[in-house]
Amino acid sequence: MRIDRFLSNLPRFNRQQVRLLLVERRVAVDGVKVSDPHHEVREFSRVCVDDEVLQEGKPARYFMLHKPQGCVSATSDPQHPTVLELLDEPDIAELHIAGRLDFNTTGLMLITNDGQWSRRLTQPTTKLPKVYLVETEQNIGAHYAATFKAGLYFAFEDLTTQPAELELLGPRTARLSIIEGRYHQVKRMFGHFNNKVIGLHRERMGPLALDCSLAPGAYRALTLDEIRQV
Ligand code: URA
Repeated sequence: MRIDRFLSNLPRFNRQQVRLLLVERRVAVDGVKVSDPHHEVREFSRVCVDDEVLQEGKPARYFMLHKPQGCVSATSDPQHPTVLELLDEPDIAELHIAGRLDFNTTGLMLITNDGQWSRRLTQPTTKLPKVYLVETEQNIGAHYAATFKAGLYFAFEDLTTQPAELELLGPRTARLSIIEGRYHQVKRMFGHFNNKVIGLHRERMGPLALDCSLAPGAYRALTLDEIRQV
């Protein structure tokens, strides 16, 4: 929300007073004086007028989890454990997953309460690559790479996937980098060649790689530097 709206929504200030407060540089967001009425205020922002705190700002939280097999990327599930249950953190219900993984897919999972941050990671428009190690039932043909690069038509969504990069690592293993994260995308891409994916592991999302010291099921908070890279 814009700072001028934020302030004029409070019963104590009318629009004229808000304009004045900003012009007089009496408003601070996260410790920095602001005069631009468009300046963005988020639930995480600390907002002060003079020395008075109008909003404390709640802490933004970011975690990296090594998702193990056999848990679902959901907030609740009647049958199976969920990835959020692996976190020993308060107010779990406020957290969400940035980019789901299938039940048996392993690897990097990012969890946060910051919707803007997770959208930057997952929206195809930001073109951040998601990198997967793939193991298949049949040999991977040399011609797959060109097909994946050209994009595959997904009839259900009526779209063609964005160019993906395939690097062959062995006859049945490859590293695949995709921009978007459509439902079962990797499995459907290999499914185009009737080649079943039997192992799938996410190594990286954009600038963030899975910390190798995290065992399956373990997690840690992201560092400030990691958070800023997205
Ligand atoms: N693509 C898939 O098919 N499954 C995943 O879990 C992630 C990407």
